[in-house]
Amino acid sequence: MSGLRPIPDGVVTLDDHEAHARTTLDANAWAYFAGAAADEQTLAANRSAWSHLQLLPRVLRPLAGGHTRVTLLGRELAHPILLAPVAWQRLAHPDGEIASALAASALQAGLVLSTQSSTPLEDVARAMGDAPGRGPLWFQLYLQHDRGFTRELVQRAERAGYEALVLTVDAPCHGARDRERRAGFRLPPGIRAVHLDGLPPAPTQALGPGQSALFDGLLSQAPTWDDVAWLQSITRLPVLLKGILHPDDARQAAALQVAGVIVSNHGGRTLDTAVTTACALPRVADEVQGKLPLLVDGGIRRGTDVLKALALGAHAVLIGRPAVFGLANAGAHGVAHVLRLLRDELEIAMALTGCRTLADVSREVLLHPATGNFIFDSKQ
Ligand code: FNR
Ligand code: LAC
Repeated sequence: MSGLRPIPDGVVTLDDHEAHARTTLDANAWAYFAGAAADEQTLAANRSAWSHLQLLPRVLRPLAGGHTRVTLLGRELAHPILLAPVAWQRLAHPDGEIASALAASALQAGLVLSTQSSTPLEDVARAMGDAPGRGPLWFQLYLQHDRGFTRELVQRAERAGYEALVLTVDAPCHGARDRERRAGFRLPPGIRAVHLDGLPPAPTQALGPGQSALFDGLLSQAPTWDDVAWLQSITRLPVLLKGILHPDDARQAAALQVAGVIVSNHGGRTLDTAVTTACALPRVADEVQGKLPLLVDGGIRRGTDVLKALALGAHAVLIGRPAVFGLANAGAHGVAHVLRLLRDELEIAMALTGCRTLADVSREVLLHPATGNFIFDSKQ
């Protein structure tokens, strides 16, 4: 572990961490972590969608004894904030995913480790530890073209004590990563997706006339709904789907009895101009009607954003880039600082809207942005 680095002076918000990380990361890493797909419309819109929702506070309600506790997948969590899966964290800081795990553990936050982690999942599980009250430890899965290899990876995660699998379903192929291409992004030597070591090369066949390198190549191996059922059949772990935006997909996920759904557009990194998660969430929530744990990510930068996500039906939220920026700025200390700031801001937002517990957070704290109606109605 690198020595404990202090939080830079003047960094008091998640946006301050982002601004500072721009000065600590090199241009290559900055393009990867900060960038998104194409014109980065969804990246920007995710954020503004949360901020444009207006809060309608209640006053003089009793607040003593309030807390941020929430139950998720049968476990009580100290608060509803998890670290989203983010690939190659050693590109942000030499301590990489270990620093994120130490921070998550110290701040009782959940952690979702990426298939494309630059640190072995067993080491991350060890760093997360098993202190009472620590947040959940989940493994994010990209199904590999070799299903046998995928199965072994799942078994490794089970053996190491991961408590759930998060199958990412919104990235059968990369988005158009124009910022990365402009920057000539490449992984520096020594940093790689360690879990993919030994993955046999994808079978290739010469393309016939009129065939597409994408559809007849990579996508011929892309996961489908049948693979979700297959994954459930080979693991004893609960399976969540990450990257759901359409209510009908949420309904199909519920029919397969998945353990939860993460409403996500991959932080704007896959399909640009995809709907914002703040807009998609209430429609998904209406569809599943509390039958399924719902999480959301994308553009969450303030405690008020967390509150709004919970008001729209999420049980918990994940943050991607802000944690990586904290990591770049001050290693484990930086990630912990980001988590602490967001949790403190959530408590302030709860208090100032008159919500003593998260059970008090409902759509009644929101105004509909277009109509100004008091009670948010997603069907308007
Ligand atoms: C990601 N994300 C992601 N998701 C996933 O399922 N597996 C992965 O390996 C990665 N890798 C990854 C790398 C980087 C650099 C970023 C920024 C994001 C998506 C991530 O889990 C999450 O959905 C978004 O980051 C949420 O948006 P915010 O919080 O970054 O705005
Ligand atoms: C990304 C992949 C790793 O968003 O999910 O960069």
